[in-house]
Amino acid sequence: MLIKKSDDIPGSEITDEKLYNNRRKFLRGAMLAGSVGATGWLYRTLNRPGDTKPQSAENDPAGEIAAGEIAEGYRTPEGEPANTFEEIANYNNFYEFSTSKQAVAVRAKNFITRPWTVEVSGLVHKPKTFDIDDLLKLAPLEERVYRFRCVEAWSMVIPWMGFPLRALIDAVEPLGEARYVKFITLYDPKRMPNQTTSVLPWPYIEGLRLDEARHPLTLLATGLYGRDLPPQNGAPVRLVAPWKYGFKGVKSIVQIVFVRDKPGTTWADYAPNEYGFYANVNPQVDHPRWSQKRERRIGEWSMRKTLPFNGYADQVASLYSGMDLNRQF
Ligand code: MTE
Repeated sequence: MLIKKSDDIPGSEITDEKLYNNRRKFLRGAMLAGSVGATGWLYRTLNRPGDTKPQSAENDPAGEIAAGEIAEGYRTPEGEPANTFEEIANYNNFYEFSTSKQAVAVRAKNFITRPWTVEVSGLVHKPKTFDIDDLLKLAPLEERVYRFRCVEAWSMVIPWMGFPLRALIDAVEPLGEARYVKFITLYDPKRMPNQTTSVLPWPYIEGLRLDEARHPLTLLATGLYGRDLPPQNGAPVRLVAPWKYGFKGVKSIVQIVFVRDKPGTTWADYAPNEYGFYANVNPQVDHPRWSQKRERRIGEWSMRKTLPFNGYADQVASLYSGMDLNRQF
């Protein structure tokens, strides 16, 4: 990623997190663990006074969504509390709106995500354009508390809401030749103002191998903390593959295409010496400009060790048997 020193950082008014926690009964465990101190640290560190109010649960325009099933077995281990809503919703990479992590929430605030359709096409028996509300009915919504590791060496723990991508794949029935899945973000410079710049080639595209896409950990996320996904986190639907670097998690998806050959993807094509197609979290392979051995969990002082496959090796390492994990381009 480009590392930009921001000069338009929003202000530091913080909604009391306890207020928010009280409204999230079904998430009690994960929520209470996120500390007020952590939130304070983030804002003291990242924000300067003035400007706009950071997004909080209280001023989040997205309504609550029905609480889904809490998927047991998909929680991070004890000692890794979820980051707060305020942290997750105010420190974002979404270049269609801004290259400043702290400005994305403000700039994406009025991004309208209804009506919305997702066209699923390519090598499938049953191509279909889903209205977002029909897409949401493909499978019961679950809560999955996953680690999230950005290639820039920061991390969070995020309580996503969503459903396994596999449910969508089964619905469209891929043909035998389909080997990869390509995901495409909305291209609409009127609604995504930074698409008028050439900071990246647009639209943002990502891809997975079909077996990665079918893996039970792989999620189409439509919410977090039991609410609709805020625009800055990729509303109305984004990809989450928690063993991969965060840039694989393409946001605001409008098209999913099943293809035979490995698709070109935004960051791997833009800076092939720095980013690869697989992008599995690997502490042994440093980024050319920084180490990947450790990471800064947002809200913590000390650095944590980065785990192979972001801690999901038991579940996913077998997908890559026979591959040189240090060369995954
Ligand atoms: N998707 C689109 N369309 N545009 C982006 O700029 N940034 C990626 C990924 N998905 C990005 C995107 C990167 S680099 C990261 S780290 C994550 O989104 C950040 O997700 P978050 O803002 O929800 O933490």
